[in-house]
Amino acid sequence: MDLIQDLNWRYAAKAYTDETVSEEKIDFILNAINLTASSCGLQPYRVFSISNKALQAKLGAGSFNGQIAQASHLLVFAAFNRVTTTDVTNMVDHIANERGVPKESLDGLFTAIDGFFKSRTDEENALWADKQAYIALGTALIAAANMRVDSTPMEGFDPKQFDRLLNLPEKGLHTSVILSLGYRDENLDYLANAKKVRIPLDQMATKIK
Ligand SMILES: Cc1cc2nc3c(=O)[nH]c(=O)nc-3n(C[C@H](O)[C@H](O)[C@H](O)COP(=O)(O)O)c2cc1C
Repeated sequence: MDLIQDLNWRYAAKAYTDETVSEEKIDFILNAINLTASSCGLQPYRVFSISNKALQAKLGAGSFNGQIAQASHLLVFAAFNRVTTTDVTNMVDHIANERGVPKESLDGLFTAIDGFFKSRTDEENALWADKQAYIALGTALIAAANMRVDSTPMEGFDPKQFDRLLNLPEKGLHTSVILSLGYRDENLDYLANAKKVRIPLDQMATKIK
């Protein structure tokens, strides 16, 4: 399937049918997210795939986004609150194991990355982690479109409510952004057949040669 066709097909769905997205398609999207690039390779977020309607209703209470409660699945992108030396050690050890190289050969990498995060505040590192989660959101949008699964990226929710209901503080995480997944309801969604609107390419991008 052509990527530009996928991107033209997708839009931020406002209403979903009752149809459930298969676990195979959810796993495809999660796998794509896991393959996303992240700064230093740290993958400083975790993704929760929620298909429990009672929990979705609680998460969406008070939000103007009915999709939170209605969608087949809700992906919650939860970023790290802090970056610790243990996080960096675990990543470097994982690389050494996966690539079959001595851990000592990665000492320089460890020192550079650990020093970088130590030179900044927890708040700065949490903001950095949020940015990485948004890159993963972008991958998820593309992967869902490729599977012809509709989706809605959302910032319109109460992050504190999400953090509390998902027990994120005790996991050292906070909610960054969310993505609902399902199938568009063409009868109820006023945007289902609307033309995609984007600024002209030459206004968005400047080629400097
Ligand atoms: C980070 C982010 C947050 C968004 N938050 C919401 C939201 O809370 N509710 C909603 O219905 N759409 C939300 N959107 C969808 C945008 O409104 C939509 O992507 C934009 O209007 C472009 O339209 P299209 O994606 O349908 O092509 C969000 C999009 C992004 C990327």
